[in-house]
Amino acid sequence: MGLFVTFEGIEGSGKTTQIRKAADYLKERGVPCVVTGEPGGTPVGGELRKILLDKTALALSGRTELLLFAADRAQHVEDVIAPAMGGGEVVLCDRFSDATVAYQGYGRGQDVGFIQALCAFASRSLVPDMTFLFDISADAGLSRVMDRARRAGNVPREDRFERERLNFHEIIRDGYLALAREEPDRFRVIDASRDIGTVHHDVCIHLKGLIER
Ligand SMILES: Nc1ncnc2c1ncn2[C@@H]1O[C@H](COP(=O)(O)OP(=O)(O)O)[C@@H](O)[C@H]1O
Ligand SMILES: [Mg+2]
Repeated sequence: MGLFVTFEGIEGSGKTTQIRKAADYLKERGVPCVVTGEPGGTPVGGELRKILLDKTALALSGRTELLLFAADRAQHVEDVIAPAMGGGEVVLCDRFSDATVAYQGYGRGQDVGFIQALCAFASRSLVPDMTFLFDISADAGLSRVMDRARRAGNVPREDRFERERLNFHEIIRDGYLALAREEPDRFRVIDASRDIGTVHHDVCIHLKGLIER
């Protein structure tokens, strides 16, 4: 059986940067791996992602938002994650159930116990073997996101979540840290305020431990 590793943290914490570098590290060592992410890891999920992130004009209710994330996850587990793990690959996933608990539970104030049950249903009770939590202040994370947009030549355009006030992202950060305290065996909390290479070095140490386990 393969392994399932998730990358979590607020916007700009470095998930996408680190997941690519982690994949390169595994491939160099001859470990077969796939990189995927949510929302939007499947064609169905791509359509859901547009509603969830891009359509700022759509007034999604909190319950609708939660159910769309759950629907995206169900399709993703079924079509991508479970088959890859069945084939013995290491699946690296940019956001998973912890993000739903952090954003829709802690962030939007919906019932955390219910969300965990919903995520278990959507994922067929799939729990990551290891979860990296890239921890950074909301201020630092969001300013990286703004720089990223400017470097890409865009007027910093914000999606539905980036538009939320700074305080919202601090609540998410604290929610993630609370989850990490509840499951210290699964979580690896990484200080993501450091430079890319230093963060990657820490990630590699934990990945090495996991694949040699
Ligand atoms: N450790 C770091 N130090 C400085 N900048 C970083 C670091 N990690 C990522 N970045 C930059 O910050 C921006 C956001 O990183 P990204 O990996 O896209 O974050 P996320 O996927 O968590 O939103 C990108 O422009 C990226 O190049
Ligand atoms: Mg990203």
